Amino acid sequence: MRTSAQLLSMKGRRVIVTGAAAGIGRAMALRFAEAGAELLLLDIDEAGLTQTAAEVGRLSSRVTTQVVDLARKTQIDAFWSHFEVDLPDTLINNAGSYPLRTYLEVDARFLEQTLRVNLESALWMCQDFIARRKEQGGVIVNVSSVEAVVPFMDDLIPYSVSKAGILALTRALAHAYGKRGFRVNVLVPGAIKTPGTQRLRKAAVRRLDVDLMKTGYHFANRLALGRWGEPDEVACVALFLASDLASYVQGAAVPVDGGFLSS
Ligand SMILES: NC(=O)c1ccc[n+]([C@@H]2O[C@H](COP(=O)([O-])OP(=O)(O)OC[C@H]3O[C@@H](n4cnc5c(N)ncnc54)[C@H](O)[C@@H]3O)[C@@H](O)[C@H]2O)c1
Repeated sequence: MRTSAQLLSMKGRRVIVTGAAAGIGRAMALRFAEAGAELLLLDIDEAGLTQTAAEVGRLSSRVTTQVVDLARKTQIDAFWSHFEVDLPDTLINNAGSYPLRTYLEVDARFLEQTLRVNLESALWMCQDFIARRKEQGGVIVNVSSVEAVVPFMDDLIPYSVSKAGILALTRALAHAYGKRGFRVNVLVPGAIKTPGTQRLRKAAVRRLDVDLMKTGYHFANRLALGRWGEPDEVACVALFLASDLASYVQGAAVPVDGGFLSS
């Protein structure tokens, strides 16, 4: 029987983390490096990626970064076209953004960009990953949001829709490809302190948007643990799901939200 430490170890594994330049993605990169993985970090933000790589470099020397705009399928295709050998075995689709806009002002362009960044990016990344690893299988961890299950912010409706799509994508892939050796699960974070959520909070204060501030207050009141979470607290659950400790977990939507969804 393998020990718990062996089951959690990522030694010998090659892991892609998207959105690794900041927030939850950077924390994931650090956790996976600490567990022994070789990392391929993707983001649109080159400076942030360099910073993450420097931090990861203290734990593991096996890290590569690549600037990719995941909202553009052509760039996703270009990224995958480089792989002939040494295919990554684990894909963490974390990149995302929180574009705020009043529902009645959402237009086709805004909706399209939101869906591209938050939903289509993961769909295409999964397709390329599965297509190239169809003989070997692999592990996918997607990232949804509590907004997909209990929408809370009125100005995030396209975002909520995109993250609901991530839940559907995960379950559909888990069902379709489980017997072919792919484990696919999804994290459902909420109230994690990251640059992205900091920007949301600052926007509410800057706009002196009382409704948005009230929403923030009610949101915080639903956190059963009574506090916001750290990016590393999401990264630890991602590591568990990606590891062999979770070998019988399939199609699961795992909240990491301080009890928000249960309140
Ligand atoms: N922080 C939370 O409380 C929370 C809650 C629910 C869901 N999430 C989800 O977790 C994930 C990470 O969120 P975060 O809070 O760390 O956000 P963040 O804004 O702090 O970091 C997101 C990262 O994604 C990258 N990114 C954005 N658009 C990209 C694109 N087109 N191509 C490549 N990279 C791109 C950004 O550059 C950034 O490095 C997102 O999918 C988000 O929707 C976070």
